[in-house]
Amino acid sequence: MKKFICPSILAADFKNLENDILESVKGGADIIHCDIMDGQFVPNISFGPDLVSLVNQITDVPLDVHLMINNPENFIGKFAKAGADYISVHIENNNHLHRLINQIKDEGCKAGIVLNPATNVFSLEEIITYVDFILIMSVNPGFGGQKFIPSSLDKVKKTKKLILKNNSDCLIEIDGGVGMDNIKNLSDSGVDMFVCGASIFKSGNISKTTSELKKLIS
Ligand code: DX5
Ligand code: ZN
Repeated sequence: MKKFICPSILAADFKNLENDILESVKGGADIIHCDIMDGQFVPNISFGPDLVSLVNQITDVPLDVHLMINNPENFIGKFAKAGADYISVHIENNNHLHRLINQIKDEGCKAGIVLNPATNVFSLEEIITYVDFILIMSVNPGFGGQKFIPSSLDKVKKTKKLILKNNSDCLIEIDGGVGMDNIKNLSDSGVDMFVCGASIFKSGNISKTTSELKKLIS
């Protein structure tokens, strides 16, 4: 099955955003990950649909929009219009996940559910057959460059079991502290989509690191 490297532009040099994105694409980036933070659901503010739309003008690579915001229903349409191909919402701050998933799909995007490190995989049981991907946070959301939480690996394995049990073809995405030292192990445990922020954009050689990470999962 195809695996996807998803550089997270949160760690890019915003003064040279176009160059950084194109370097990662040169290295084989499959999807560009865009982290949207509202200063409410997470203790940080990042950027909104206008920047996503700029990214969409820079590259044809699909865009993955990770919504770390309250009331995402008010913004799903705007991000879809800005060029999102994948949109994910958190389980912790949304009471009507089924409705949100349908809203994302109605916009023509792949729909994902995100789990914070303390959220149980079994809370996915009733929704797993409706989603295109599950995003496992392997750090507490809000900031790039944090250390991978080791128990996330076990969570990936539990999610994979749940997917198989439900005969679902949904993908597993991992986000936070992913790099050279753990990507192969994560891939072997069932991860399909790998979000890499600091490990790519702070590496000193964006295209080379992207292609090296890609080699480790293929
Ligand atoms: C954290 C974000 C991540 C972040 C990952 O809230 O969801 O996407 O950019 O960054 P690294 O790879 O640096 O941990
Ligand atoms: Zn993210």
